[in-house]
Amino acid sequence: MTEHQNIQAQRLPAEQLYEDELHVLREADTDPRPGGWRLSPGSVRTFILGSNGKEIGGVTISRKIFGNEIVVERSIVTLMGKQGLILVGEPGTAKSLLSELLAAAISGTSTHTVQGGAGVVEEQIRYGWNYAMLIKNGPGPDALVPGPLYLAMTRGRLMRFEEITRCPTEVQDCLIPVISDRILHIPELEGGEAAVLSIPGFNLIATANLRDRGVSEMSSALKRRFNFETMNPLSDRALETELVTREVNRQLAADGIGQSVEPAVMALLVTVFQELRSGRAAGTKLEPLASIMSTAEAIQVAFSAAADGWYLENAPVRASSLLKHLSGTVIKDDDDDRKRVRHYLRFVRTKRKKEPVWEEFLQGEKWL
Ligand SMILES: Nc1ncnc2c1ncn2[C@@H]1O[C@H](COP(=O)(O)OP(=O)(O)OP(=O)(O)O)[C@@H](O)[C@H]1O
Ligand SMILES: [Mg+2]
Repeated sequence: MTEHQNIQAQRLPAEQLYEDELHVLREADTDPRPGGWRLSPGSVRTFILGSNGKEIGGVTISRKIFGNEIVVERSIVTLMGKQGLILVGEPGTAKSLLSELLAAAISGTSTHTVQGGAGVVEEQIRYGWNYAMLIKNGPGPDALVPGPLYLAMTRGRLMRFEEITRCPTEVQDCLIPVISDRILHIPELEGGEAAVLSIPGFNLIATANLRDRGVSEMSSALKRRFNFETMNPLSDRALETELVTREVNRQLAADGIGQSVEPAVMALLVTVFQELRSGRAAGTKLEPLASIMSTAEAIQVAFSAAADGWYLENAPVRASSLLKHLSGTVIKDDDDDRKRVRHYLRFVRTKRKKEPVWEEFLQGEKWL
């Protein structure tokens, strides 16, 4: 084992984190697989949506994406075809997570990835040049430095393109010929080396955040080559509570924090998030927050409250400490959001203050 492998990583890529699950699924998989796929489409779905408590090779496959079942199924089907897949939606709706899980299950690796940004140039996507070699010998295969697109095509893997709309339109457009013709042209080279052919298993998964849609337009030529799937925030309270509880407890255990968040506090947190997100509470209309009230933020608030209790307060997480952390995680740079939360608290005070856990929650108002 190398020194590098001994380092305890803060976060492992999905193919390493779920190595055991992927292994048993592969061993048990007898269904047909599309060319270049490591698992059959049915097993990819089981990997992402879980095995419902059923054991496969002695292992229960955990559910990794909650809700959005149809999106998951359609995404798997899209990736078998000739169109790329683009996952769009509000921030924190698990677009990146789903793209990583799909790549890990289908290709066995999720790391052929480009992170979109205003400064990304085509060379970081397709291929670049080793300039010392280029000057010494001229353009040739030895001087070529393959990028994630080149590698994914020649290895028959999925390439992930995170936040694609943050890249300038003309940079995004370098994908157009690749998705339609499945050939990457290298005009600097000659003969057979001038065209890189993709092998089965190659396709693209992009993600784009709807709030950032206007950053760089996507050309209609490129849009036509992608199938769009929208990831929705979880509206089912029980499902969101289950997800937040599991994720927070997993993160706390991984960080050696010896406490968990009580179910009643967790249920309250998810209720607060759902009500502030939708602007509706028990039939009353409220003003929704401008800030993102995603599941990812709910996980962060609960985790911060637990870490605070463990390291600073030496006390279990109480409902009152949620407001302390809501203020840093959710109310970011919009002071009107603080007013909206106060307005919401007034509603809670009139309707729910007789319930002990809500009464405790209200005590945290001093932190806002
Ligand atoms: N439906 C869901 N199923 C499982 N996990 C979810 C779901 N929604 C949110 N999460 C949690 O939220 C976290 C953040 O998700 P992720 O980073 O993939 O979101 P995103 O949609 O890519 O956001 P952004 O647009 O900000 O990049 C996930 O790691 C997961 O813990
Ligand atoms: Mg993302």
